[in-house]
Amino acid sequence: MLARAARVIAYDRAMHIVITHNEPGAGLAWQRELSRRLPDLQISIDPGCPDGAAGLPGTRSHPASAELASADIAIGWKPPADFFSRHSRLQAFFSTGAGVDHLLRHPGLPAGLTIIRLEDAGMGPLMADYCLHELLRIAGRHDAYAAQQRDRCWQELPAFSREDLPVGIVGVGVLGAQVGAHLARAGFTVRGFARSAKSIEGVEVMHGDRAWPAFLAASRVLILLAPHTPQTDKLIDAAALRLLQPQGWLINVARGALVVEADLIAELDSGRLAGATLDVFRQEPLPASDPLWHHRAVRITPHVSAPTQIGPSAEQIAGKIGALRRGERCSGQVDSQRGY
Ligand code: NAP
Ligand code: GLV
Repeated sequence: MLARAARVIAYDRAMHIVITHNEPGAGLAWQRELSRRLPDLQISIDPGCPDGAAGLPGTRSHPASAELASADIAIGWKPPADFFSRHSRLQAFFSTGAGVDHLLRHPGLPAGLTIIRLEDAGMGPLMADYCLHELLRIAGRHDAYAAQQRDRCWQELPAFSREDLPVGIVGVGVLGAQVGAHLARAGFTVRGFARSAKSIEGVEVMHGDRAWPAFLAASRVLILLAPHTPQTDKLIDAAALRLLQPQGWLINVARGALVVEADLIAELDSGRLAGATLDVFRQEPLPASDPLWHHRAVRITPHVSAPTQIGPSAEQIAGKIGALRRGERCSGQVDSQRGY
């Protein structure tokens, strides 16, 4: 895979980059940021995405369709259904997010296409602050006080100490490791769970199927930061949630598909689980009819725990394209068998 990517991009002819992004405005923003950093390359917006009819004036942003078909590299998020059939000579795809499930589940994805993801690119500190903020809210009983305020009730409740709230993080890769270290520095006891052994300052990392029940049993607040893969789909079901310490919390900042929503609601309704903070959902936007919207113990944010930071991300991608053009390796290449 590495050799393929390094070989692919060292073309003699000028490289053509195509941007595809499902959000209006994002295609143009990426074109602007990348054109500044890669001024010698042709950078187009795919006509099949919302910004496809637009483009930077003065750039070669409206190539004829024959040229578009010869794009060498794609950069983007959630390409349209016919994207890969229109870009048949594509050699690499840079995801404008850390996750690549939007690509690996694309029915038209060509086998063997090199996929490169964002690595941190400014998301780590945001994710770490989001999780710390949630933990401090839990510790300070802020949900209970918000409910009391609605009832005009003045009643002091015992706060939780750091020791009361041992944290378990499922997935301690680029982002999970930063979250873990941040929470540990803030005085929480933090364990991580990954597929392989690793060392993170202040965090005990467990791995392997046999360690899974013990990891859950040691956690009262469970943070999800693993990718969505066939192995993590529905990983957090009733059985997993029941292994958590009593009156636990779930913080899902990974992907909604990791959680069995009906089981989560049942655990919250039974009172075994005290609350959940959900930033991600199996279907996004979360449908208005979804019961999670109205659950008293659920906090919802619209997939904003660590938004892509376009400046640092464009800088990272431009740096990697430069490395590949020089025939060097670059990090962040996805193992499509593994799923991340
Ligand atoms: P990463 O560096 O690839 O880390 C993934 C971690 O998950 C690794 O520690 C990996 O274990 C672990 N893992 C993989 N499969 C697992 C399994 N079956 N059981 C337990 N652990 C497993 O990814 P990242 O950059 O930290 O990003 C993680 C995820 O966060 C992304 O895939 C994305 O879904 C999500 N995300 C969400 C937002 C948001 O705004 N909500 C923003 C960015 C990213 P090994 O270390 O052993 O390989
Ligand atoms: C966001 O969800 C990402 O994967 O970067």
